[in-house]
Amino acid sequence: MLGRAIREQPRIFAVAVTGSVLFGLLVIASAYVVGGVVGEVVVPAVERGEVGGGVLALAAAALFGISVLRVVGIFGRRLGAGYMQYRLQAAYRRRVTRRYLDLPLAWHHRNSTGTLLSNANSDVEAAWYPIAPLPFAVGTLVMLVGAVASLFVTDWALALVGLAVFPALFALNVVYSRRMAPRQARAQRLRAEVSGIAHESFDGALVVKTMGREAQETARFAARAGDLRDALISVGRLRGVFDPMLETLPSLGTLAVLVVGAIRLRQGAITVTELVSVAFLFTVLAFPVRAIGWVLAELPRSVAGWDRVRRVLDTTGEMPYGEVAFDPATRTPATLGFDDVHFGYEPAEAHLPGAEVLGEVTFTVPAGKTVALVGPTGAGKSTIASLAVRLVDPGSGRVTLDGVDVRELTAASLAATVALVAQVPFVFDDTVRANITLDRDGIGDDEVWAALRLAEADGFVAALPDGLDTMVGERGTSLSGGQRQRLTLARALAGRPRLLVLDDATSAVDPRVEAAILAGLRTPGDGGASASILVVAYRRATIALADEVIYVEQGRVVARGTHSELLATVPGYVDLVTAYEQAEQEREQKRTYDEVAPVPSGLEMEVDR
Ligand SMILES: Nc1ncnc2c1ncn2[C@@H]1O[C@H](COP(=O)(O)OP(=O)(O)OP(=O)(O)O)[C@@H](O)[C@H]1O
Ligand SMILES: [Mg+2]
Repeated sequence: MLGRAIREQPRIFAVAVTGSVLFGLLVIASAYVVGGVVGEVVVPAVERGEVGGGVLALAAAALFGISVLRVVGIFGRRLGAGYMQYRLQAAYRRRVTRRYLDLPLAWHHRNSTGTLLSNANSDVEAAWYPIAPLPFAVGTLVMLVGAVASLFVTDWALALVGLAVFPALFALNVVYSRRMAPRQARAQRLRAEVSGIAHESFDGALVVKTMGREAQETARFAARAGDLRDALISVGRLRGVFDPMLETLPSLGTLAVLVVGAIRLRQGAITVTELVSVAFLFTVLAFPVRAIGWVLAELPRSVAGWDRVRRVLDTTGEMPYGEVAFDPATRTPATLGFDDVHFGYEPAEAHLPGAEVLGEVTFTVPAGKTVALVGPTGAGKSTIASLAVRLVDPGSGRVTLDGVDVRELTAASLAATVALVAQVPFVFDDTVRANITLDRDGIGDDEVWAALRLAEADGFVAALPDGLDTMVGERGTSLSGGQRQRLTLARALAGRPRLLVLDDATSAVDPRVEAAILAGLRTPGDGGASASILVVAYRRATIALADEVIYVEQGRVVARGTHSELLATVPGYVDLVTAYEQAEQEREQKRTYDEVAPVPSGLEMEVDR
């Protein structure tokens, strides 16, 4: 991982390490200058009672020069390390989120939003955290080697003290980080769990509040937050034990140097200058040596974070796009084909068998026609809709657009050709306009209004305080359910798709508006309503508008034909449609309409059919 960091930011790493090495060598140099000042200036002054002015000035100049250079070294190291750390974090955050969007929906179903958030946030951060002290640690290693070498040049006895103390420091650091590893990994995992729970309970605030589960939900969160606290305290406790030891060892080294040095001085093996230099060296080394400890102490957390980041980056299973592109000028409705399609969702756990959700599904939506998909709940209607727009690929069989397997189409062609309005509408926290255009080319305000008209949404949008510029709030909270649905419908229409897939897309608008929308979509003209339509529908009025009805039960196409044909021949179909109708009528009797759209003339007759 460190290798990867250096490979990705080689120049900045070089700057930081150069700064750090410069600093380390100057620390050694400063020790020798201080030793020199003591030996050449202070001692003679004490002995003879006079100060050598020239030497003192020279020493002061040398110390000043060294300090300035050290500042340059620290600046280079800090700047380089900061750049490196934050650039790597930003780069990997980008890669992780990009990966999320490339991965198929099945993968998203298996991973909680909380986990995804903590992968992109705290895991990426933790992974690259040791990059900050890394150049310092590398510089310190060079400094330690330099220090031992300079000790050998000075005196072998003092060198032995160094050889005892430095490796002991290093060993202590290693033991420290070994002990730290499991604690840090646990804390990192708990961070993700805490953020997951928090996210879920805020996301489900509605359920939590209406069900009166605030206390339980808080308790669930508090338990995990308590685990995290304990994990972090155990990290702190370990730090409390090892930090003083790491702090003390160099001081013990200084003490040993003074004892050994005094003996060697009396033997005449070293001078006062040398003794003071070495003793000072041990004192100033203590701090930088800690940098090695910082890296080692952060490594476990970093490895834990990196493992989680890498799991995302290494996940495969994204659906590659093909090479076939439709002519973008083509505006005629597309033909959708399902050819013996089988499909099963991936099981939640790999060892479980995946149940087949769809089998032998074969049908076509001919160009310009409207096909209604009808079936009881859980029959596989949404699954068919997902296959039609290639959110998922079939296990076997083919889904085709104008005869081309959708797997062979380019991303751009697919996006320009099909549009899905999903069962659960999603609205971005942005303006109405931005929600409809989604920054796509060629969608000006005229097109936006045309799409809103088709979706029967122009009325309420015009009445909004800022019109198209109104902010709709997170997930469109400032809109009603039916308004949100019509906004997402307008978004689909604005791209002028050649195939429109409506998965129960108008369930929250009242039946007359729903029928009016579908009738409008089927009428060519008015900014292009010339799309083929696959619509998941419940209401008799909506179904009756379709050219053909496909009736599915338990993932199989049970019957197909016109609405009246199916009413006459398929008992299950009759039951279902009648049940929906009764429920609808009951609801309608109770309902007070906040908006009633005029029903286009001629429609009522059709509805009664
Ligand atoms: N992500 C998923 N993972 C596993 N099984 C799933 C998943 N989504 C749906 N299923 C299963 O696939 C079957 C078909 O689901 P689907 O959503 O297509 O039904 P539907 O006809 O749209 O139902 P509804 O009318 O309630 O919207 C159901 O048995 C459901 O449990
Ligand atoms: Mg569904």
